[in-house]
Amino acid sequence: MRVGIGILGFGTVGGALLRKLIEENASISTKTGLEIEVEKVAVRDIGKLRSVALRDGVLTDDPMELVNDPAVQLVVEIMGGEDPAGDLVAAALRAGKPVVTANKALIAARGKELISIAEEAGVPLLFEAAVAGGIPIIRPLSETLAGEQIDRVLGIVNGTTNYILTKMTEDGAEYKTALAEAQELGYAEADPTADVSGADAAAKAAILASLAFGTWVASDRVYTEGIDRLDATDVRIASELGYVIKLLAVAENTQDGISVRVHPTFVPGDHPLAVIRGATNAVFVEGPSFHELLFAGPGAGGAPTASAVLGDVVDAARELLAGAEVAPPIRFQPGRVLEFDSVVTTWYLRLEVVDRPGVLAQVAGVFGDNEVSIKSVWQEGEDDGATLLLVTHGHAESRQRASLEGLRSLEVVRDVGAVIRVEGAGPTPNL
Ligand code: NAP
Ligand code: HSE
Repeated sequence: MRVGIGILGFGTVGGALLRKLIEENASISTKTGLEIEVEKVAVRDIGKLRSVALRDGVLTDDPMELVNDPAVQLVVEIMGGEDPAGDLVAAALRAGKPVVTANKALIAARGKELISIAEEAGVPLLFEAAVAGGIPIIRPLSETLAGEQIDRVLGIVNGTTNYILTKMTEDGAEYKTALAEAQELGYAEADPTADVSGADAAAKAAILASLAFGTWVASDRVYTEGIDRLDATDVRIASELGYVIKLLAVAENTQDGISVRVHPTFVPGDHPLAVIRGATNAVFVEGPSFHELLFAGPGAGGAPTASAVLGDVVDAARELLAGAEVAPPIRFQPGRVLEFDSVVTTWYLRLEVVDRPGVLAQVAGVFGDNEVSIKSVWQEGEDDGATLLLVTHGHAESRQRASLEGLRSLEVVRDVGAVIRVEGAGPTPNL
């Protein structure tokens, strides 16, 4: 069975997809029964040298021409960004053409609207590659686990930052050195802001939470902190305590509502996510029936991402050729998304303090005034350069933050060196 496709974008993922479609054409056809014919490929600069040779007339710099081409039955959007990708995807769906996209920024920003356009048109909109590249996670969440209660999803969903954190943990590298290395190896973009600020992970966390809990979570509701202010000192202290610092996406569904956040996190060394190294991604799903599931693999790169895109193309093509009207993978229900202030978190703090009698009492007093209970406290250094390290019990963020303000106003606290959230009950140092 033949299907004509149009591909918006011929960059890292587009190049890998086209190579796969050309080099593995025979085996794809044998395995799937489909003959996937690339009818059009849209790029910005038609004169650029390309890594894969295409038939004359296939390349265009007019993406809407591609969407409207009657030979294009299915559209693959791998150009990235919200604009014009969003309008092109919407136009393709309205024209009754299935769409496959790898664009997490677009799905996080306009996913709800695009899924509803797809539903009205009765065609699939698939985005397996949008979260954690080559790891199958969208389909498991929205289909395989559709009937299950999901309580929590924890994810390492940005390869660049996980690579940087691994270098800091294992080699004692400084943040800037590890980032430069990630750029040299091609993991981080020339402008790595979206990766290191946590924005890329936040878009992915919003998509994971929406699918896991069946309530749409806009990405601006995701509390986000990146790794750009992380200090090698805290990475070392975490290791000494048997923890590892990861940029974690945390989505929770409690009786009070849904919370989604991305921030550096102390992860216990025996947690399955602690051993996820380098640019690898992983998603850990918790629920009462299946208990714990771990999905791990390559989260970025042309070939792994193209493999997820191709899987969606095969799926969408089969639906298209079957001629049936397609129901959306998920129907979103209204739900309460919590303000981060009310979310319960455990904190690790590093304070640079004056070392004299009564300092600890003043610090403890601030926590006590804000009804925050301290789990552990210990000191590194003495005399002029004392460092106090504290781990709190779990309390609402609003109370933890009020304590932080109080600490900053103490004359004996010279600097709050770090505040990092902790997964689990938190370390107790073996003094
Ligand atoms: P990329 O290398 O920057 O390639 C983008 C392609 O789109 C280029 O071919 C570019 O044309 C074309 N393009 C951009 N804007 C266009 C416009 N207005 N009109 C026509 N063509 C346009 O991007 P990528 O890394 O392949 O990523 C593509 C998508 O996959 C993004 O949504 C990204 O988030 C997602 N993704 C990427 C990865 C990864 O590892 N790279 C992993 C998971 C998901 P020119 O070639 O002429 O510049
Ligand atoms: N820049 C992303 C990462 C890959 O480092 O994981 C695309 O999602």
